[in-house]
Amino acid sequence: MYSRNAEDASCRAVRAEPGAAVPDFLAVRALCALDELAEALRLRFRVFEPYGVVAEECRRAGAGIDLDEFDRFSLHFGCFDTSHSQRLVGCTRLITPRHQEALDPLLSRISSSTGDATLDRLWQHRPGFRLLLSEAWHGHDFPAALRDGRSQIAELSRVGVCEVYRRRGVGGRLVRVAVDTARATGFHAVLLACGLWHVPFYERLGFHVIPGTGEAPFRSQPSRAMCLYLS
Ligand SMILES: CC(C)(COP(=O)(O)OP(=O)(O)OC[C@H]1O[C@@H](n2cnc3c(N)ncnc32)[C@H](O)[C@@H]1OP(=O)(O)O)[C@@H](O)C(=O)NCCC(=O)NCCS
Repeated sequence: MYSRNAEDASCRAVRAEPGAAVPDFLAVRALCALDELAEALRLRFRVFEPYGVVAEECRRAGAGIDLDEFDRFSLHFGCFDTSHSQRLVGCTRLITPRHQEALDPLLSRISSSTGDATLDRLWQHRPGFRLLLSEAWHGHDFPAALRDGRSQIAELSRVGVCEVYRRRGVGGRLVRVAVDTARATGFHAVLLACGLWHVPFYERLGFHVIPGTGEAPFRSQPSRAMCLYLS
């Protein structure tokens, strides 16, 4: 794993003005190999740990990875800087109702490499299909159109970009690739929960706030639930 300082120093050159097109050397694709999935979980920890959304077990393990029970049901995506030894600069996941069995051996190796048995229990835990987002509702309900077709819904989660690569279109490209994959895989809608300040970002990518759920707090933050219908 490279150090944060080294990353900052070597990546500063890619900063650009807001709205600039995504440079050709940044490529988004699905993650399937052990090393890149492990790197994505480390990137997630760096980006999301300060927001308090990383599982307590991961914080306690001290391994610097963000892993949870949704990961083996997710399609994972990464953005690579091809001009920098394929460095991973952003990632996201699409939580699906389907167990992505091919991920189990990878997640098992990643969690066991931390030497913390509680992480193994964490990612293997599954009380029944649910979307991460459903935690936000606590008594609220999904609109009927979404509730009735849950098996056709995917949830976008953990869209994270290394600080020095932000505002270059990486986040937007990650979301688009995830949404295109959801559409191609037969999902009818993609949901997400986000902080208020990110609503315009997702609106520009075609999502809209789900009526009636707008005030639901997500992990105690003022949040919005958003949806993009694909069919
Ligand atoms: C949100 C995030 C993924 C956006 O990634 P990104 O690569 O910067 O996204 P893009 O370059 O595709 O789009 C950036 C747009 O988002 C908005 N935005 C991003 N960062 C912003 C900032 N610091 N201040 C204001 N607007 C910002 C702007 O509208 C911007 O568009 P512009 O550059 O044309 O003005 C990234 O900032 C991040 O990783 N944040 C921390 C993790 C997080 O909060 N994830 C979202 C969870 S819901």
